[in-house]
Amino acid sequence: MSKSNGTVFITGGSGGIGAATAELFARDRRPLILWARRREKLDSVAKRCRDLGAPSVHVAEIDVRDRTAIDAEIRKNEALYRAVDILINNAGLAKGMVPFQDAKPEDFAVMIDTNLTGFLHVTQAILPFFLANDRGHLVHLGSAAARWAYPKGHVYCATKAAVHSLTETLRLDLNGTAIRVTEISPGMVNTDFSTVRFGDAERAKAVYAGMTPLLAEDIADTIHWAATRPAHVNIQEMVIYPVAQANTTLVSRRPNP
Ligand SMILES: NC(=O)c1ccc[n+]([C@@H]2O[C@H](COP(=O)([O-])OP(=O)(O)OC[C@H]3O[C@@H](n4cnc5c(N)ncnc54)[C@H](OP(=O)(O)O)[C@@H]3O)[C@@H](O)[C@H]2O)c1
Repeated sequence: MSKSNGTVFITGGSGGIGAATAELFARDRRPLILWARRREKLDSVAKRCRDLGAPSVHVAEIDVRDRTAIDAEIRKNEALYRAVDILINNAGLAKGMVPFQDAKPEDFAVMIDTNLTGFLHVTQAILPFFLANDRGHLVHLGSAAARWAYPKGHVYCATKAAVHSLTETLRLDLNGTAIRVTEISPGMVNTDFSTVRFGDAERAKAVYAGMTPLLAEDIADTIHWAATRPAHVNIQEMVIYPVAQANTTLVSRRPNP
């Protein structure tokens, strides 16, 4: 197991997979940096992490689409960001689920700017520190949707396919350094993801009706495992589905384990 005690930096740390991952690393007594747009949620995750053992938790209200804000935050707290050992590029979302021909262009922009452009901005802002230290681990939240597109998923699937491709190209460009690059590709995880997608909690509930989805903690566990392998081991990709989900289009709705 890797013995590093460097800082773990998580985008989208205000809920779901990001918050569950922060709590796991807090138990390891790792310093944390958490970014998201909702300050109150960030503050409550930070409090839980301190209670669980994190020696420090720095939170910043940052929209990953805003490169100016990203650069200003990092310039202002450069010493904190220099100590980052693991960047978990987790901030992301889907908006809408209707056929492409009926979809709203403004939803396209939100998904592309958050899942793709935001991911690029944060990665590029942190990489100079990783390169200067010749260490670091980039962990990207992809999705099963990256490789197995589903009906009405168009732009969301495309942004995650882009994350997959960028993960591979980063691994090529960083070959020869000690930097590790990992992609975590979940199937259905019961977080606020579907509520954000539909803007409707009842409709979101129906997504998981009659089946047992993954929990944020299941994905946090895989991220934590991948990040704590010995320094010479790179987990390139993990695809994690709930048992009831055979692929992105086939879900059993009968009671199951
Ligand atoms: N749930 C699933 O079924 C599933 C499956 C495969 C992949 N994923 C991926 O897993 C990641 C985490 O999703 P989740 O399931 O944990 O969903 P979630 O509970 O909705 O959490 C999403 C997180 O991203 C943050 N975020 C969204 N837009 C942002 C922005 N512009 N700037 C900064 N932070 C932003 C949100 O915080 P604020 O709203 O406070 O900004 C929140 O902390 C996403 O990349 C998602 O695509 C999820």
